[in-house]
Order: sequence, then structure tokens, then C-alpha cells
Amino acid sequence: MVQNVFAGKKIVIGVSGSIAAFKVAGWVSDLAKEEAIVSVVMTSSATEFVTPLTFAALSGNGVHTGMFGRGKEDAMAHISIGRDADLVVIAPATANIIAKLAGGIADDLLTTMVLATRSKVFVCPAMNVRMYSHPATQKNLKILKDLGYKVIDPACGKMACKEEGEGRLAEWDGVREHLAQSLSFQDLQGFKILVTAGPTREPLDPARFLSNRSSGKMGYALAQAACRRGAEVTLISGPSALTCPQGVTLFKVQTAQEMNDAVLAHAANSSVIIKAAAVADYRPETVYVHKMKKEKIARELVLTRNPDILLELGKRKKAGQILVGFAAESTNLLEEGRRKLLAKNLDLIAVNDISGDTTGFEVEFNQILVISASGAETLPHTTKLHSADLLLDRVLQLLSKKP
Ligand code: CTP
Repeated sequence: MVQNVFAGKKIVIGVSGSIAAFKVAGWVSDLAKEEAIVSVVMTSSATEFVTPLTFAALSGNGVHTGMFGRGKEDAMAHISIGRDADLVVIAPATANIIAKLAGGIADDLLTTMVLATRSKVFVCPAMNVRMYSHPATQKNLKILKDLGYKVIDPACGKMACKEEGEGRLAEWDGVREHLAQSLSFQDLQGFKILVTAGPTREPLDPARFLSNRSSGKMGYALAQAACRRGAEVTLISGPSALTCPQGVTLFKVQTAQEMNDAVLAHAANSSVIIKAAAVADYRPETVYVHKMKKEKIARELVLTRNPDILLELGKRKKAGQILVGFAAESTNLLEEGRRKLLAKNLDLIAVNDISGDTTGFEVEFNQILVISASGAETLPHTTKLHSADLLLDRVLQLLSKKP
């Protein structure tokens, strides 16, 4: 069970001299908020872009800038900083620092510390597009990969130098997932997990549709948590404003019928299927090609039943496969959960209480009632990401019992 993968973890951030150093200040702030113990090492050119004071204030720790400090505790800084680090992250990594690391050069505190550490080292390049694509830089990056460094590819886009292309510092959301995965116990490795999320939209005409309040947060959190724990995750999502978590394969759909087709195409190949999506049970019988004028719309909408995807998955369930449903309820949580567990041939159902405003739709938190053949259990009121981890713990228990 993982509450917060970063809490208490010792993370060393090595900052080299690029304008992107200011972005890494945000990374340090985020990691400190996640309760990581962050130490920052800066090259002297990095201090030209952002002051050590900025990183000291954001990390809550002193910043290391030179090999030869005056205090006794600094004498072995190049060894001690990286010695018990859980992770070292070089960001931004300039062409110069990449070349030095590839050549094993140790001529300042940052390069010496990297050579002395035995922790996993992530390298996040950031430089001009032509510097990045230069054969020398590409060769050095290959050497780093061969040496076991984890290189996080830069993003494409507009740069501070007004040129465009590959070389922008990778976005933090993606980098954070790489770090979280490396810190997480890989207990779901080898499992293929299919997650559905969000609402579906059932069109009436090009301007109008029937839908519901689902934001997709719980499904996306499940996909993110499962991916961090090493699973191969496919996410089939209805319309949602959320960004697909790093490492997850996303398929976007609109209607219940499209979700049905996408889910059934992936189901047989999945060890676990978690249906967190709020699928519309009905769709308008007639879909108009052109926007209907209000005077012409019938006052009573004729609806047609959508397929019940989960019911169908229950019928097709393969031996060893785990099927998890969700139920958004405002009354009779336990009875409704038990009814759906049996009716849809599920291994587990997660019931959300949507009657209050601290759980269920749109909010960041959730409290799930988990029901399986072995009983019912109310999980703590916590973030959706933590709820996802707790639910995955139960899924893992069931997997261990299946043949
Ligand atoms: N579900 C589905 N396809 C549907 C409707 C629901 O796959 N057409 C899935 C949901 O993804 C969820 C579970 O079934 O995992 C329960 O959804 P819910 O709307 O609570 O259940 P219904 O069977 O629609 O029950 P009711 O409307 O009677 O509450």
C-alpha cells in the first residue's frame, strides 16, 4: 500500500546552467510539498539563472554550489550528498553537463557527486534544438543510456531562443510519473489493466447531448496508480479535461456504444478490468444531422437503451480475470452494491456515495465502500489517487487467489 511515494524519500536535484532552471524551481517546490527531502546541487553557471536562495527557500534545505565549502560537514559533500539519495535528477541537463557525465569527468560538485552516487540518476536534457540534435550530444546521450542513466526525452516546442523543435525541458507531470514509478514497489508488473473513465456523451444534434457529472478523476487516478506500480495500463475514456498519465495508453471515445466497442476489443487481453466510467444508460433514439430549432424539438425525448458494457464483460469473463465495477449511489449503498456485484458477475465493486459534496463526482477526494464475495469494507476518506492505490491492493489480493 502506498500513500505518498515521495514522502520521506531523499531526492537530489542537480541543476546546470540553462534558462530552464527556473522551471525546476517549481519541481523542487512540488516535491517538497509531497514531503520529499530535497537537496539541490547547482553548477556555478546555474546560479547565473536562478539564485541558490530560491532553491533553498523552496526545498527548505541548504543548497550546495561548490566543492570546497568551509564547514567540516562540507568537506565530503561530493560523496555524502549522493550516498543515501533515493534518486538523483539532473534538470535541466545542458549539452555540457551531458558531455561531462558521458566522459566521466568530475570537475565540479555536481559531476563529482554523480560519479560518486550509486542511486538511480535521471537526466532531463534542455537546450537549443540544434545543440540537442548535434551528433555529439546524441552520442553522449546514448553513452549515458548505456551506462544506466535514465534519460527523459525533452519536449518539442518553442524555445527561449525563439527557435522551435526538440530540446525543451520535459514537462513536470511526466517527469514526476517517471520518478514515482521508480520509487514505487512494482507489485503490478506483468499485469495488463484496462480502466474506463469519465462520462459518455449521447448526441441529440450537433449542439446538444445527454451526459452526466463524471470528470474522469477516479478512473485517471486508477490508471496513474496502476502504471506507477508497474502494470501495463490501457485507459478508455469518455470526454474529460484531464491529461493522460505518463506511461498509460489512452483511447478516447464519446458515446456508450463507442466505449462498448473499444472495451470489448481490449477485454480478452486484460488481466484486470476496472469500469470506473459513468456510462449513459440511454441515448436519444433520433440523432439530428443539423441543429434542431427549439420550436421543432419534441417536448418528450424518446430514448433507446445503451449496451450494459459491464454486464457483457461479466458474461465473457475469462478464468483468472478480475472484473471490478463502480457504482455511484445516493441511497442504499450496500444493497445496491451487492445487487450489482451479483447481477454483473463482478469480483469487486467500489460504491461511491454521491449524496454529499466531499466524495464522488468532480471532487479530489473519495470514500469507497468495497464489496466482494468475502464481505464489505469502507475505505478511508482520502485523495482519489490514494483511494486508487487502496482499491488496487484489494485487486492484487484477488489476483493472488485466482489460478
Ligand atoms: N455500466 C456499464 N454500462 C452501462 C451502465 C453501467 O458498463 N450501460 C457500468 C459502470 O461503468 C459501472 C457499473 O456498470 O462500473 C455500475 O454502473 P451504474 O450506473 O451504477 O449501474 P446500472 O447498472 O446502470 O444501475 P442502475 O441504473 O440501476 O443504478
